[in-house]
Amino acid sequence: MTPTTPLNVLTFRTGPGDLLPVVLLHAFPLDARMWDDVARLAPGSRTVLAVDLPGLGGSAGLGMSPPSLDDAADAVAQTLTGLDVERAVIVGLSMGGYVALALLDRHPDRVAGLGLLDTRSTADDDAARANRLRVAAELESSGTVDAVRPMATALLGETTRTLRPELADRVGALIGQQTVAGVAWSQRAMAARPDRTAVLRRFAGPALVLVGDEDVAAPVAEAEHMVQALAAPHLVVVPHAGHLTAIEDPACVAEALGELAAQADTNDHRIHG
Ligand code: MLT
Repeated sequence: MTPTTPLNVLTFRTGPGDLLPVVLLHAFPLDARMWDDVARLAPGSRTVLAVDLPGLGGSAGLGMSPPSLDDAADAVAQTLTGLDVERAVIVGLSMGGYVALALLDRHPDRVAGLGLLDTRSTADDDAARANRLRVAAELESSGTVDAVRPMATALLGETTRTLRPELADRVGALIGQQTVAGVAWSQRAMAARPDRTAVLRRFAGPALVLVGDEDVAAPVAEAEHMVQALAAPHLVVVPHAGHLTAIEDPACVAEALGELAAQADTNDHRIHG
């Protein structure tokens, strides 16, 4: 693992050392602030951290190496080591889920519990990969993040778009604060990611698979595919929510994560004493 500058971490809460921390990994093209409401509503007193992935939010990019979520996962692992967090409940939404799976693949001992929200374990097909590379090139040639601004509405569910259109403004503001380099790097890194369904088959710990029933970007069928691969899954389908469940229904997400973390504590105490 090449040493990197630590990633920027939002420490939402610092809790007692006998409870596993929860580490939150955000979606594309956003940053750790997308977890504000979930962190505020998270039950209990455990530590809650949210990491800005490379090149996004307050985190520096990873330099000139080819874009790779493996490197992003290594950077998360190194950052947690720097914070004395050896094992945690790792939770990722969409791109954050891809990074969580890369972390599980490359650093399995770090993952005491796994939360996969509005994400998939499968790789892109050729058309999706080509589209990501096209968008990355467009970002760079325009010098703006305009090519991904429509995601502010597209990622939300139809119910949210209709009843709470102000949430699109909040997501749009987060997108507008990202750098072209960080967004383009993330697109290319996602394009290069492998299928990681087999990684799920090797994970024996507690896992939450959560998805909005109006999620078009990572639909319920993708969640069911992951559930089938896991040994101890809990599936939560969030009604009337789209792809950004953590923003659209943070109370539901916070409750499900609280249950996952409690299970991970019990499991870890049983295994490690
Ligand atoms: C995300 O929300 O992180 C993106 O939809 C992920 C992707 O583009 O696959």
